[in-house]
Amino acid sequence: MVKIEIYSQAQEVAKRVLDLLGSQIKTYPYSQLGLATGFTMIPIYEEMVRMVRQKQLNLRGVRTFNLDEYVGLDESDPGSFRRFMRGHFFEPADMSREQSFFPWPDFSPDFAKYDDVITASGGIDWQLLGIGRNGHIGFNEPGTPWDSKTHEVTLTDDTRRANQQAFGGDWRKVPEKAVTMGIATIFQARTIILVALGQSKSAILAEALHGPVTSRVPASILQEHPGVIVLCDYAAGALLEL
Ligand code: F6R
Repeated sequence: MVKIEIYSQAQEVAKRVLDLLGSQIKTYPYSQLGLATGFTMIPIYEEMVRMVRQKQLNLRGVRTFNLDEYVGLDESDPGSFRRFMRGHFFEPADMSREQSFFPWPDFSPDFAKYDDVITASGGIDWQLLGIGRNGHIGFNEPGTPWDSKTHEVTLTDDTRRANQQAFGGDWRKVPEKAVTMGIATIFQARTIILVALGQSKSAILAEALHGPVTSRVPASILQEHPGVIVLCDYAAGALLEL
């Protein structure tokens, strides 16, 4: 049974995510964290950085595994997720380079090795997820098989449009290819925190949580995971039944 918590504003959602992360780190300082990028995550990383700087959160022992990365972008490219993470989190939170992993280019071309490294180091304890307007998690677009491991994907035009801002507002400049953790990779995480903000996510969030479990809506698989907490603001949660 998925737990759902709805808050009035993004800031409150971010604080709640940090409460949960704080408890995780307190219990297990060497946690392996699965991390996401995107607009939804910005207030969350802001709060994380604030807490690290105020010494309310110590991330020295953690390892981080990002969900996904575009193929072909240099890490200095403003659109790359390595750059996003460096700017919003790693540098301001003073994380060392050895602590963080990305599926591309580190594991190219044998992407399933990303799963092997995750598993060999004990698995992901705490996975942060956003949701795409088409129900994707990571970059697993509708139709991705449930048993998929880390793999290369072709992004839908809708997803490229949703991500165009980091590419000068031109969706054609968003790379067509990306590498993402698979649905099975994500599902193996012990705890999953799914965050959704804003009215543009309300319909898909309700479909994912209350509709049938179907690969047409990749996030719907989370209904079957024993450790999912959904945190959203009023706008994203407007169509949820509690
Ligand atoms: C990003 C990722 C994606 C995003 C999703 C929502 O690493 O895996 O699944 O979480 O596209 O993106 P935003 O938050 O920009 O709406």
